[in-house]
Amino acid sequence: MQTQLLIGGQWRDGAEGERIVVLDPATGEEITTVAAGTPADATAAVEAADRAQSSWAATAPRERAEILRRCWETLIAHTDELADLITREHGKPTADAKGEIAYAAEFFRWNSEETVRIHGSLSTAPGGANRIIVRHPPVGVVVMVTPWNFPAAMITRKVAPALGAGNAVVIKPPKETPLTALRIAELLHEAGVPDGVVNVVPTSDSGNWFDAATEHRATRMVSFTGSTEVGRVLLRRCADRVLKVAMELGGNAPFIVFDDADLDAAVEGAIVAKMRHSAETCTAANRFFVEAGVSDAFTEKLAAAMGELKVGNGFDADVSCGPMINAAAIDSIGSLVTAAVDAGASVAVGGNMVDGPGYFYEPTVLRGVDPTAPITREEIFGPVAPVIPFADHDAMLAHANDTEMGLAAYVYTQDLAKGMRTAEALESGMVGLNRGAMSDPAAPFGGMKQSGLGREGASEGIYEFCETQYIAASW
Ligand code: SIN
Repeated sequence: MQTQLLIGGQWRDGAEGERIVVLDPATGEEITTVAAGTPADATAAVEAADRAQSSWAATAPRERAEILRRCWETLIAHTDELADLITREHGKPTADAKGEIAYAAEFFRWNSEETVRIHGSLSTAPGGANRIIVRHPPVGVVVMVTPWNFPAAMITRKVAPALGAGNAVVIKPPKETPLTALRIAELLHEAGVPDGVVNVVPTSDSGNWFDAATEHRATRMVSFTGSTEVGRVLLRRCADRVLKVAMELGGNAPFIVFDDADLDAAVEGAIVAKMRHSAETCTAANRFFVEAGVSDAFTEKLAAAMGELKVGNGFDADVSCGPMINAAAIDSIGSLVTAAVDAGASVAVGGNMVDGPGYFYEPTVLRGVDPTAPITREEIFGPVAPVIPFADHDAMLAHANDTEMGLAAYVYTQDLAKGMRTAEALESGMVGLNRGAMSDPAAPFGGMKQSGLGREGASEGIYEFCETQYIAASW
């Protein structure tokens, strides 16, 4: 297994020879160590990307598309091995880890198809004097900062379109889950990605690493997935060089159940929306608004379903909720639950940390939560479902939108017109209507308000990594 930095096609140690310890969150034990990149290594990686950039950009779209397609095939062929790495360093159950590899690989297949369809346009200027030619060249070297919750998919969702558009990239994977990132980079090279086009530099000195990477004159864009808090800091730093940015930030998704919903389907969707990937997703349902007439029945059914979920080591059969990423995560979840109970909510199921080793929290349902309680303002990032009964539709919608976040939302009703009206009224980049999952490489993933800037996936995703050039031409 590669545990060094990948710079310009060479595997090597960091400039200062330091290592990052990678921990298994299910046991708290060390798995291995990886090389820690320094700011000098970040600079070296940008330089390697810069050297590779122009020849990669000059390849025919079809050639890039075929390499991307081989990346898809190669990742799929290594599903078991990659899923094993994900479960080891992130902790999510094997079934979720395998699902993540299918999802991650699909970004290559989808973008291999988009690579040959980066369209420009030709029109006649309204005055008739010239033609307006619009084309979309690659943006240039892209610095990518990725999160630990999807160790594979949050890398491929950026790398596949960036490469398809003709860019070279430098990735800073999270220090919690660098092993999957390094192995994916190795496999991309096996699939034909040229040296220097993908560089991976884990670090334990994120701030200085980022400054070095973004201060380099060759860097043209930053693509980040993570919290809104960190996103704001990175945006400020990008402003100094007026870098193009794509930001996938935090969420606070409302999950709305009207009294005409199919309650069993709503509970099934709620489990997916809350619990996929051990509840550590930014699209996770964070606040359950349930119409008063069905609130008790929904809460009871949801509590029964959550209570049946087996918590444990992701490698164990039947486990559907793995460990949280670290001790700070379970402390934060525990504090939010305690504050909600202190403010009048009651626990329908769960509500406790599970004894270690490892960082586990019981799947939890809280009933009677006040719509303004702290747990409704924070991204829980853990297996807790606060249920807020509502009677007035307009007041519920006002509460649902009363957040600076606008990433995902969910609506359950059998009245399609009501569902569509509600979806359109939600200030959210993505809405699941009678669905608990909406992530799809063919759909534009991204948020409104402080949940982000730009979209990943769909046709939009590849244009994020392009410039727009207009040529006024006369002939
Ligand atoms: C995320 O949590 O950042 C991504 C979730 C997804 O792609 O479904």
